[in-house]
Amino acid sequence: MSAFSSVSLEPPSVLICINREARSYLFIATSRIFCVNVLSANQRSLAERFSGKVREKQFADVAYYIDRTGAAVLEGTLAHIDCEVLEEHPAGSHSIFIGKVISCSAHEGEPLIYYNGTFARFGMQAS
Ligand SMILES: Cc1cc2nc3c(=O)[nH]c(=O)nc-3n(C[C@H](O)[C@H](O)[C@H](O)COP(=O)(O)O)c2cc1C
Repeated sequence: MSAFSSVSLEPPSVLICINREARSYLFIATSRIFCVNVLSANQRSLAERFSGKVREKQFADVAYYIDRTGAAVLEGTLAHIDCEVLEEHPAGSHSIFIGKVISCSAHEGEPLIYYNGTFARFGMQAS
């Protein structure tokens, strides 16, 4: 997706923005499910793989499991948010999908950052 945000606590919901030209758009629009995987700093190769560069067998040699909606959860991520689509709002080239959170997990670790067209790390310091 190009953007992600939390939406509400009741019901627990999030939104994602997806280009309607992306293959993932068709998968989400027809299956009415999606899973957001929050990658850790050492999972850059997974981000590149799923950014559209790998066109065939995207899940070959990738460790994942299926969560409650049927969507794929990548192993070793910092967090995942497994959703059922509640609403779709077309907006320019993209669609905004609002998803009801069905299942999720979170773990400690450093997130992978993509900023200004490049991968980066947070310059975090313990306070
Ligand atoms: C590093 C990175 C950069 C991305 N940049 C954009 C972007 O600029 N605009 C956008 O709409 N989506 C962006 N995406 C999301 C991809 O377009 C999205 O993963 C898309 O679904 C991949 O294409 P596919 O569904 O055809 O495999 C980016 C994803 C990654 C991992």
